[in-house]
Amino acid sequence: MEMYLISVIFASILIIPFAIKTLSPYLWLDILYLGHMLHIVVKCVSRRRRPCFFVLDRFLEQTAAHPDKLFIVFENENYSFTYTDKRSNKTANALQSHPNYKAGDTVALFMGNEPAFIFTWLAMAKLGSPVALLNHNIRTKSLLHCFNCCKAKVLIAASELKEAVEDVLPSLIEQGVTVLLMTKHSDTPGIEGFSDKVDEASDRPLPRSLRSHITFKSPAVYIYTSGTTGLPKAAVVNQNRLLTALPVLSSNGVMSSDVIYLYLPLCHTAGFIIGFIGSFETGSTIVLKRKFSASQFWNDCRKYRVTVVQYIGEVMRYLCSTPKRENDKDHEVKLAIGNGVRAEVWREFLNRFGNIRIREFYASTEGNVGFFNYVGKIGAVGRVNFFHRMLFPYTLVKYDTERDEPVRDTNGLCVESPKGETGLFVSKITDIAPFVGYAENEEQTERKRLHNVLMKGDLYFNSGDLMRIDKDNFIYFQDRVGDTFRWKGENVATNEVSDILTISDCIKEANVYGVQVPGHEGRIGMAAVTVKESAQFDGSRIYNHVVSYLPSYARPHFIRIQNAVEVTGTFKQIKGKLVEESFDPERIQDPLYILDNEEKSYILLTAQVYTAIISGNLKL
Ligand SMILES: *[C@@H]1O[C@H](CO)[C@@H](O)[C@H](O)[C@H]1NC(C)=O
Ligand SMILES: *[C@@H]1O[C@H](CO)[C@@H](O)[C@H](O)[C@H]1NC(C)=O
Repeated sequence: MEMYLISVIFASILIIPFAIKTLSPYLWLDILYLGHMLHIVVKCVSRRRRPCFFVLDRFLEQTAAHPDKLFIVFENENYSFTYTDKRSNKTANALQSHPNYKAGDTVALFMGNEPAFIFTWLAMAKLGSPVALLNHNIRTKSLLHCFNCCKAKVLIAASELKEAVEDVLPSLIEQGVTVLLMTKHSDTPGIEGFSDKVDEASDRPLPRSLRSHITFKSPAVYIYTSGTTGLPKAAVVNQNRLLTALPVLSSNGVMSSDVIYLYLPLCHTAGFIIGFIGSFETGSTIVLKRKFSASQFWNDCRKYRVTVVQYIGEVMRYLCSTPKRENDKDHEVKLAIGNGVRAEVWREFLNRFGNIRIREFYASTEGNVGFFNYVGKIGAVGRVNFFHRMLFPYTLVKYDTERDEPVRDTNGLCVESPKGETGLFVSKITDIAPFVGYAENEEQTERKRLHNVLMKGDLYFNSGDLMRIDKDNFIYFQDRVGDTFRWKGENVATNEVSDILTISDCIKEANVYGVQVPGHEGRIGMAAVTVKESAQFDGSRIYNHVVSYLPSYARPHFIRIQNAVEVTGTFKQIKGKLVEESFDPERIQDPLYILDNEEKSYILLTAQVYTAIISGNLKL
């Protein structure tokens, strides 16, 4: 507290000259924010001690401070800090006694949201092993790809993912991977049951020496992101990154007495770093859910007396589109923290569910600069703050959406977008804002680096996000550029989808893009394809192919058949016109199909179906 006051006072003194100059209506909030920032910096610096302090140490501190406090509530199970600590010791000891494992080996975790995810992650942290957080929705080729890019020696999987593991088992065995399934027994050769080993293992402490090789730059977790091209990439999240994320919840006023509702996937940044790791700092209780359910959301909040929720834009929209109820405002939620909520949904949410503080932020898994809308300005993702920008330089540059690259002037430098205009968000790569990149993928890492932005020789991180800054310095997210789109809260890489389509028997070329649908966040997948000579488009075969290779959010919902795929002079596929024509049968002469999960096929898209989608009568 003392430190915090000093920070605020210090910040106020610094900001006075600017205050007099601008007399902004947000002045006090700006100062307060600065106080928070300095507080975080001071805290991070004070933790730079020997032996190194890592996020795991914060968990151990919390366990020592309130051993019997509830840490995880899941379905009908309750786990205290002490229980969690002991169970993770058991998991760690069980793995350590496995002949094929050496402390420090990378371990891949293939598991949905459940307490064992948390126990296992903590166990690996105690053993000094980096963990690859595999998305439990991925299968076959993608699963193998993700597993391989982090060079893991061990795969630990949830029992219900047995089949998915079996699909890729021959490859895993060939590579000598140890495959552990969270069941008591396994009849499949090559897969070992692991939960009985955990039950039987000792809960004795794991000595610190196991972690003595770890530095702030050591990888802590790998989080997969669908980038601009190809299969998912493993973003390397190092120990330092986790430490800097530690105070995110506490600096937004979350305290030990708070109860956090955690339903976002633990394999993604928002759920893992902000929700889970953030709770270490505050020592709050986590109510863990397998997945989001709009109908259970508020009942859960009431039942568990939840005070803090996380969100993504889609979730806010789903909550607002549930039928209105009398008890909509009857809950204890006071803070919602997340990103991607649209201004109209934000207003509707506050109207319906009462006075909840919404903290919209902008950050990406691999990006080096993020911000918070600490003022609560509806629709904005953040606010330009002089000192923040001085510490973490960023800017918006003009972007050519047709050519899919930043505009360059005659000197080869980028051109900054004026206020009020949309531009590409780029952030300078520095020592305090490093870009670690992707594991085993220098090519993709280099693609995110932008050289010669404002000066010859400078280096920026290319976020791939288009933003706008208004005259009051609020920052608004506009769209993603290039080869990704978002649907149901997941990023979809268009090239990954087109690679999958073109390995089917009848599709020759595929140009994949996202199209907007009224009443939905993001864009839904669509593909313009050409059919192989001597083949015919077979809706049900393509359906089966797509379903077996792609998670549901990445499957192209509409397919348009063309005689030729249009390309630019440099053989880049042209998407602009296709995106604009969308999936309107009135405007498109080409045969047009829609994915139909009941028919298990792609069927012709009629004008009636189109109207039903546009009017919101048909759910996608
Ligand atoms: C678990 O914790 C919740 C929330 O504090 C409490 O309401 C419930 O009674 C507990 N359940 C058990 C089985 O201890
Ligand atoms: C579990 O291990 C941690 C860290 O190695 C240690 O601090 C803790 O005391 C252990 N718990 C028990 C019950 O021995």
